[in-house]
Amino acid sequence: MDLLLEDLSKQERYKFLSAVVIPRPVALVTSKDRNGLCNAAPYSFFNVFSEDPAIAILGIGAKSDGSIKDTLQNIRDVKQFVINMVDKSIIGAMHIASADFPSNESEIDYAGVTLVDSKTVNVQRIAQAPASLECELFQIIELSERRSLVLGKIKSIYIQDELIDPATKRIIPEKYSPIARLFGDYYAWLGDRYTKAIPTMEQIHELGLKAGDIEKN
Ligand SMILES: Cc1cc2nc3c(=O)[nH]c(=O)nc-3n(C[C@H](O)[C@H](O)[C@H](O)COP(=O)(O)O)c2cc1C
Repeated sequence: MDLLLEDLSKQERYKFLSAVVIPRPVALVTSKDRNGLCNAAPYSFFNVFSEDPAIAILGIGAKSDGSIKDTLQNIRDVKQFVINMVDKSIIGAMHIASADFPSNESEIDYAGVTLVDSKTVNVQRIAQAPASLECELFQIIELSERRSLVLGKIKSIYIQDELIDPATKRIIPEKYSPIARLFGDYYAWLGDRYTKAIPTMEQIHELGLKAGDIEKN
């Protein structure tokens, strides 16, 4: 089946695009309004795209009535936010925080999580999150009246100590299990991990390495 984007409604585009490009990680974003009220909401149009500058990107849509989401308003106003990664320990908080809370009510009061001060931004992170990225606003690209791309410059990364191998200073893959968003109400957890180095041109040209020689494990 070929689907020409110009033939699809906005809803159909969203349905197919968000279902094809999976899995997506989920950013449980904490932000703060001008009065200091903390907001939390999950965003899965999210990833990191560069390390120098260190940039994380969020795709934030309008609410169904066309109004602006609190996260975007807060980032515009305060210019700082924190991306909290989501694992099983805060899965309930992620789902609660996705509800359409009024702007003057904090999701945190219902989410069963604790806030702690960040190191580099004046927005708190979620203590239970396995990892958090403290961000300053770098740029907002308005894709349309209803879609904004928020580029955050990452100032600091918090990672729970037990996820890091002290000898190698690397994250231990088997211990870090962030949720994967599929589409609609579907989610997944990471399955088997495997390692495979990038082939060298010597292996391909001189040793005749072919795709069929590469096994999964
Ligand atoms: C797992 C998950 C991922 C989501 N990803 C996005 C997203 O990438 N962009 C978006 O605009 N809304 C997304 N949403 C919906 C928002 O979380 C929802 O609209 C929320 O109420 C926004 O809260 P806020 O107004 O406090 O920012 C997602 C919801 C869930 C459950």
